[in-house]
Amino acid sequence: MSAAADKLDAYWMPFTPNRDFKKEPRIITGANGHYYTTRDGAKVYDLFAGLWTSGVGHCHPKIVEAVQQQVAKLDFAMSFQVSTDKSFALAERVTGLAPEGFTQCFFTNSGSESVDTALKIALGYHRARGEGNRTRLIGRERSYHGVNFGGMSVGGILPNRKVFSANLIPGVDHIRATMNLEHTAFTRGQPEWGAHLADDLERLAALHDGSNIAAVIVEPVAGSTGILPPPIGYLERLREICDKHGILLIFDEVITAFGRLGTPFAADRFAVMPDIITTAKGLTNGVIPMGAVLVRDHVYDAFMQGPDYMIELFHGYTYSGHPVAAAAGLAVMDIYDEEGTFDRATALEQPFEDLLHSFADHDKVIDVRNIGLMGAIELAPREGAPGARGLEIHKRCFWEENLIIRNGMDTLQFSPFLNSDIEDWNQAFDKIRRVIDTTD
Ligand SMILES: Cc1ncc(COP(=O)(O)O)c(C=O)c1O
Repeated sequence: MSAAADKLDAYWMPFTPNRDFKKEPRIITGANGHYYTTRDGAKVYDLFAGLWTSGVGHCHPKIVEAVQQQVAKLDFAMSFQVSTDKSFALAERVTGLAPEGFTQCFFTNSGSESVDTALKIALGYHRARGEGNRTRLIGRERSYHGVNFGGMSVGGILPNRKVFSANLIPGVDHIRATMNLEHTAFTRGQPEWGAHLADDLERLAALHDGSNIAAVIVEPVAGSTGILPPPIGYLERLREICDKHGILLIFDEVITAFGRLGTPFAADRFAVMPDIITTAKGLTNGVIPMGAVLVRDHVYDAFMQGPDYMIELFHGYTYSGHPVAAAAGLAVMDIYDEEGTFDRATALEQPFEDLLHSFADHDKVIDVRNIGLMGAIELAPREGAPGARGLEIHKRCFWEENLIIRNGMDTLQFSPFLNSDIEDWNQAFDKIRRVIDTTD
């Protein structure tokens, strides 16, 4: 270990209790397939596929090779007014995979940027069509749409919003979250209860007049808040209300795109077509940061007016369509095809569901939720210390069981590889049970 690797002061870590972490740092130095190596030399099984990112496993040789070759050939080119062969090629591949009608792809560098880009496209779309009055944006309680000002404002997670409350963008409302333990606890897949919650959008349309609403954004399956599959009929109802009032529907698929539900997109799985889809994570298997906003042709077409020499959308990032990220993305799209990744994910859904629900009768467990390869075990919080039990279990899994899981407060979250081995899961969930059993 180098001396520098011992120094932990300078790095202000994201979404991490820094002082607590630095007392017991969990530092990864290598990865291969489904395992990490820590700086202490331990081999740790990754039950979160990176951070929902790395569906086909870490350091996949095909992606590694594509990145190495690309960085030696074309490291970067100006992204405004000039572009690269790889950006165009990836846009073709991604729109080819997307549901019918999603003909356009705008590149970003992250999920947060994809969300803010999508919101801006929605506002620009209405204005371009002469409906500049449609400025109101609708999000949902408990949702996570990243950390930029737009995404934070439509997002619904209290601690992410609290400090910035006075500076959230104006003109945003929220519909209610779809979870209610009384009605939905221990549901396998989509709950039967809750479609009526989509009618909150109708109420907002009645309050503001639908003609003032630009867009509603939802995660088809709410992820970071603790895996909330949509109630049966809920997304369909949202779509209907959007159509009735001319509101754009945005699916934030930063987690669900690229096979996490066994289909290319959640829109495919639920057979509900939004107008805009945001992506990131699985686009490059997490290897190089990149996101993409997919747009249906009617949205794009609305911008394509005025003189040809004018920029149609004053928006973009220096690294939009970065050639090395795009090369990684192209390799990932090949792997999805060649390895039948999405079909493998589909075949793994039932055993994953069964393993998770084997915790349903545990006395510390108050809910189990799952869909596709997204799952959560919600634990009862400790009296007076919400979140403490979940964090302790996360840490004990790491230190004692060489296993990475994620906790969001007292909800243990799982995002396994799309090409997982069931035997690895059996072992991992035995370990998790042991840790839950022996943690107060
Ligand atoms: C649904 C959703 N939207 C947006 C984001 C933000 O993505 P990023 O962290 O890449 O900015 C995330 C991250 O997990 C997410 O789950």
